[in-house]
Amino acid sequence: MLLIVDDEKSTREGLRTALEDKYDIYLAEDAASAMDLLERERFEVMLTDFRLPNEDGMKLIRRAKSLSRPPVCILMTAYGSEELAVEAMRDGADDYIAKGRLQIPELEMRIARALRQQELESENTSLRKAVDSKFGLSRLVGESRVMKELLETVEQVASSKTTVLILGESGTGKELIAKAIHQLSPRSRNPLVVVHCAALPPALLESELFGHEKGAFTGAHERRVGRFEQAQGGTVFLDEIGEIDQNIQVKLLRFLGERTFERVGSNKTQTADVRILAATNRDLAAEVRAGRFREDLFYRLNVVPIKLPPLRERKEDIPLMAPVFLKEFARENDKPVVDFTVDAMEALLKYSWPGNVRELRAAIERAVLLCRGDRVSLRELPESIRNMEPPATSASPAEVVGQGSLALKDAEKQLIIRALKESDGNRTLAAEKLGMSRRTLHRKLHTYQLEHL
Ligand SMILES: Nc1ncnc2c1ncn2[C@@H]1O[C@H](COP(=O)(O)OP(=O)(O)OP(=O)(O)O)[C@@H](O)[C@H]1O
Ligand SMILES: [Mg+2]
Repeated sequence: MLLIVDDEKSTREGLRTALEDKYDIYLAEDAASAMDLLERERFEVMLTDFRLPNEDGMKLIRRAKSLSRPPVCILMTAYGSEELAVEAMRDGADDYIAKGRLQIPELEMRIARALRQQELESENTSLRKAVDSKFGLSRLVGESRVMKELLETVEQVASSKTTVLILGESGTGKELIAKAIHQLSPRSRNPLVVVHCAALPPALLESELFGHEKGAFTGAHERRVGRFEQAQGGTVFLDEIGEIDQNIQVKLLRFLGERTFERVGSNKTQTADVRILAATNRDLAAEVRAGRFREDLFYRLNVVPIKLPPLRERKEDIPLMAPVFLKEFARENDKPVVDFTVDAMEALLKYSWPGNVRELRAAIERAVLLCRGDRVSLRELPESIRNMEPPATSASPAEVVGQGSLALKDAEKQLIIRALKESDGNRTLAAEKLGMSRRTLHRKLHTYQLEHL
């Protein structure tokens, strides 16, 4: 599909006639209607005039290029404006063509060339993505002291076959850590098999893990290979291990000790070379004390414990995580959202996040979908989060944070650093971004000893 943007009807129609044999043609007469079309349909190519009624062609190209799957953009310039054209290429246009001497065969050739170029580039990005996801940690965001220590542990244990017990409240990222350990381990070429232990009744869980022979129980029509066998050479992640019943606890204990087991309904002993990762949001030590979880199994699992702190105890990570999630959802939904307003970010920092990172992601996804402009504001946040905001007082939100806990202060410091970076050190601009006066910013730079920035 090809989009032609030009305010002159004769040019639009002329180009349509020339190109409609090869492409599915759409026409727009200004930038706004072009953007509407671009957001609704997926175009391979956009051909736009530089001179458009309200917004010039170059601005349109920049916006088109921020879409998740941007079209190839070719700028049509007036004859003789070479300089402008070169600048346009530097700014994101894929090619330009002088309008006065528009030759259709040449235009066709240039479209084809730009398309080929884009194809090559997208092959490169998917290659890079594959490499990224292989290096598991790149998807884990976190700069707080606890997170850094935790990521170091992850890297250290990844290379061995040690059993790792991952602890933490719901939504803190236990599964993500398990995936990172597997991906960073020498086993990453072999499968990572995830078993949600709480999802199955005990009898089924046993056959799920160890497999069963045909006829082992009513309904066992076929022989079934268990998860441990399936994961041969790889990793098994036992999620919600705190929920398994005593009978399976015994069998698991044996498997952890000897890596041997029998399929349900068979007496043939088998072995499987798998690494075990386990996770729970229960306090396993307390379960042991209460007699619900075997102590010996607990010690077998607890070789290297990794404890994920709840999000409310590492709020410094919020200003880092939130923009990553925002960009991800903006890209996924083709929304031009790029940031948070200062008071929206303050609200995210104040909230206690009982659902942890999962809740943060969900709130941001919703906000991005609701957002009409380019920044997520308080309005788009769920009420529970907004309500943490005290009624409007004379103090700016940043001031209120200033009186808050240490974590909040640290978060404010991060916000200031980010705003300064984004404004290339321009303090007036940074203060504006932060929604505070230049004077307040100066005072805060002094307080946080950031005057060198
Ligand atoms: N440090 C992090 N960086 C980026 N994303 C994260 C991080 N921690 C968690 N997430 C994201 O938060 C969501 C919840 O994480 P995950 O499913 O791993 O939590 P969990 O601890 O297994 O929760 P549950 O106990 O409810 O199963 C996922 O979408 C995950 O990608
Ligand atoms: Mg989980």
